[in-house]
Amino acid sequence: MKNFTTNKAKLRILAMAILAAGAAGALFAELKAGYYTSKDSGSIQQTLPTPADTSSTYEAGSYVLQAPDLAEGEGLNEVYANCMTCHSVRYITMQPPLPAAAWVTEVTKMNKVYGAGISDGDAQKIIHYLQAHYTPETRKK
Ligand code: HEC
Repeated sequence: MKNFTTNKAKLRILAMAILAAGAAGALFAELKAGYYTSKDSGSIQQTLPTPADTSSTYEAGSYVLQAPDLAEGEGLNEVYANCMTCHSVRYITMQPPLPAAAWVTEVTKMNKVYGAGISDGDAQKIIHYLQAHYTPETRKK
């Protein structure tokens, strides 16, 4: 029994020696092939950058300042003058048609909550305008 264990240990040492010799041999072969010489280190080849194309032309259309067109009508100027300082007037058209009372609340909210600073006279005109064109009964498009 004791002999058997000793043989097993010997076999293990032999296996490790063979592995170590193999690894050292492989490393030596790599060195001989020149992969690890200082001459080659750090010379990873990259593809050349694509040369800039100087023949390209670029065009930019005019910047859209007033999208969309709101319905024509009394108070439209006041809307443009007061409702575009913070966001687009698209905020009006992207709402579902709001009931008349909701537009009063909206304009009041812009003034009181967000500090739009719209005069009472302009606010009244804007509310009338919105009620005349953007409620479920009055909205055309
Ligand atoms: C002082 C800046 C300011 C002004 C001026 C302003 N708004 Fe607003 N408005 C906001 C802010 C802030 C929001 C909410 C945040 C967001 O959605 O961008 C908003 C949102 C809205 C909305 C979306 C619904 C809601 O309540 O969030 C509507 C509709 C709207 N505004 C309409 C108007 C109208 C009509 C006017 C002109 C009477 C106006 N706004 C003027 C700041 C302003």
